[in-house]
Amino acid sequence: MKSDGDLTRAAEALRAGKLVVMPTETVYGLAASALDARALRRVFAAKGRPADNPLIVHVGRKADLARVAARVPALARKLTAAFWPGPLTVVVPAAPSLPRVVTAGLATVAVRMPAHPVALALIRAAGVPLAAPSANRSGRPSPTTVAHARGDLGRAVAVYLDGGPAEHGLESTVVDCTGAVAVVLRPGAITLEQLRRVCGDTVLGAGEQGAPRSPGMKYRHYAPSARVWVIEGRAAEARVEGQRTIARLRAAGRRVGAIAIGGERYQGAEEFRVPTLAALGRELYAIFREADARGLEDLVVRAVPDRGLGRAVMNRLRKAAKR
Ligand code: TXA
Ligand code: MG
Repeated sequence: MKSDGDLTRAAEALRAGKLVVMPTETVYGLAASALDARALRRVFAAKGRPADNPLIVHVGRKADLARVAARVPALARKLTAAFWPGPLTVVVPAAPSLPRVVTAGLATVAVRMPAHPVALALIRAAGVPLAAPSANRSGRPSPTTVAHARGDLGRAVAVYLDGGPAEHGLESTVVDCTGAVAVVLRPGAITLEQLRRVCGDTVLGAGEQGAPRSPGMKYRHYAPSARVWVIEGRAAEARVEGQRTIARLRAAGRRVGAIAIGGERYQGAEEFRVPTLAALGRELYAIFREADARGLEDLVVRAVPDRGLGRAVMNRLRKAAKR
């Protein structure tokens, strides 16, 4: 946990238009005052982020959603009542007073109330909503430890707050609440099944029925330098196929890593073992970074079933595998 001194320093830096790395329960965020256009431009510069990719605004109380939104649609009210504080981001009509850099000129704004105690304390100490994308250089995996963020952003950041390894390790679920039905724009730690328990049929999964996508989804994301091979199919067959892929790559003289899920084993590859699906979600980005640090050229992983948390994991794996 952070000392009060660190928090005070960080809050002061934010009020002075500087950048702070803050822990959240999903991934680490690169925070700036959401009301300060100059600070927000520094966020884009520090990340090397394209200007057409809007930021998520983080609030410290549920009631503050209404302060950054032009109006709060009923679906947003329902979802935030159920899942805030937590890994859910709602897209709602933006208050006209918000700087245009936050929303990248869109009429909507993405808002989330994080559950991490350090993030909540920081937002409250700063006294302003905080815009915070993931604290990685654009195109790199999101940081799940403060060391990852520091390695990517270095001196562009005034204060780094360490809140330990991120609890979920995958970014929040982004849900568009501006229409008649809620639409998942980015699958995350809150699952479609959980959303359906609250919204029933009025929520569409990512990619269903030509559902719209987040501006950010068009970029190649979440990718290590190592080539990622996602072996599709049922677990048993995919394990065999994964082992075959490793053998073929090794025969070509390549340095291969493999993610071994739930006690499975692979020969001829540097293994990254994760006991469960939740652990895979938590560790995935750290494994990507470690694979690169070890100079691995390929990373083999089998598909997990596309349900529950598996949807978010497969979304990130498929993006990482895209060439
Ligand atoms: O878990 C998270 O959401 C983390 C932590 C730090 O809170 N933040 C995060 O931010 O992942 P970022 O910037 O890496 O991803 C934000 C995503 C992008 O895909 C962006 O395009 C989308 O949210 N987004 C932001 N504003 C939007 C809007 N008005 N409409 C649709 N999508 C939006
Ligand atoms: Mg990001």
